[in-house]
Amino acid sequence: MAIIKATALEKCYRTEAETVYALRNVDFEINPGDFTIINGPSGSGKTTLLNILSGIDQPSKGQLYLDNLPITEFTDNVRTEIRRDKIGLIFQSFELIPVLTAAENIEYPLLLQKIHPAKRSDRVKEILEQVGLAQYAKRFRLYQRLF
Ligand SMILES: Nc1ncnc2c1ncn2[C@@H]1O[C@H](COP(=O)(O)OP(=O)(O)OP(=O)(O)O)[C@@H](O)[C@H]1O
Ligand SMILES: [Mg+2]
Repeated sequence: MAIIKATALEKCYRTEAETVYALRNVDFEINPGDFTIINGPSGSGKTTLLNILSGIDQPSKGQLYLDNLPITEFTDNVRTEIRRDKIGLIFQSFELIPVLTAAENIEYPLLLQKIHPAKRSDRVKEILEQVGLAQYAKRFRLYQRLF
């Protein structure tokens, strides 16, 4: 069963001068285990689509199901909770919290999910090991390299 299903997604931006269609009639499914790349020239709507898929933004028309939940029908607050629990976003510019260490950056969303402290720290260790960064758990993003 699809973990992401989009039907007839449309996103238009209206300005005084014109209406820009960033997405028109987008249909697709992503299944568990899929590795999917969204590819296209600058301005073709990649960021717009990713923002909608992750629930950050809403389409002008169409439906989006995440894990069978019709997220386009939910309020901003509910979409934020679903994003917290189900989606991991890695931004090109990282968007790490600079005053937190690598381990604390990983721990932060678990804290928001109110996961028990012992379980949190096990999960943080596991994730750091998975990506080969266990030795950098206490490092900040930049400072330790500079000083
Ligand atoms: N807030 C906005 N207001 C008006 N038009 C917008 C807005 N955001 C995006 N657009 C327009 O929507 C279209 C798609 O933009 P989008 O940023 O999704 O493209 P992209 O594929 O991510 O481009 P890039 O490869 O440069 O990152 C573009 O024509 C862009 O100018
Ligand atoms: Mg973009």
